[in-house]
Amino acid sequence: MKFFIDTAKVEDIKKANDMGVICGVTTNPSLIAKEGRDFVEVIKEITSIVDGPISGEVKATTVDAEGMIAEGREIAKIHPNMIVKIPMTVEGLKAVKVLNAEGIKTNVTLIFSANQALLAARAGATYVSPFLGRLDDISVRGVDLIREIADIFAVAGIETEIIAASVRNPIHVTDCALAGADIATVPYSVIEQMTKHPLTDAGIAKFQADYRAVFGE
Ligand code: E4P
Repeated sequence: MKFFIDTAKVEDIKKANDMGVICGVTTNPSLIAKEGRDFVEVIKEITSIVDGPISGEVKATTVDAEGMIAEGREIAKIHPNMIVKIPMTVEGLKAVKVLNAEGIKTNVTLIFSANQALLAARAGATYVSPFLGRLDDISVRGVDLIREIADIFAVAGIETEIIAASVRNPIHVTDCALAGADIATVPYSVIEQMTKHPLTDAGIAKFQADYRAVFGE
């Protein structure tokens, strides 16, 4: 399983990129709004940091296929690495079909069932984004959805990649990897949590103490 970072905060993207662990970025309208910056300006800056797929979503207020197609074409023009993020609706699927035929890659977002993922894949989505954290929030096991989609795609030989989204903690990450997600898109705070283990800290402290006792600094 590969990692994308799920944020529009450029400082966090730089930090994760410097660690060498991410190969892409996902954003959404809430994350862009949180930064309070112009969409195209932020996206351009992100493309200058990470050399990999960057998902930029059509405007949250655009709900018709025509509008999403027009915006998708503009997003794709920003940089060759751009992936157009489209919500999982009938209009969204129509937009995915047209953009895919034009060679524009898409990420169908807000997936909460295996059937939605299957439809998005058949419409031509490059990626599907099932949201596991938001399912856990309503007492439905999000990881079961990731596993179902992975099984269905394997049986059907579907090449659409599964991005496990709405990842909230390190256990989610391990669960997604075991369930067969191709990618997990993870906030920086979770990446940081994943680096830590108390025995690692204790081990470093002991190595330092033993070294200093004999050799000094
Ligand atoms: C995915 O692409 C979304 O940006 C994201 O993972 C949503 O996560 P949340 O449910 O924590 O907002």
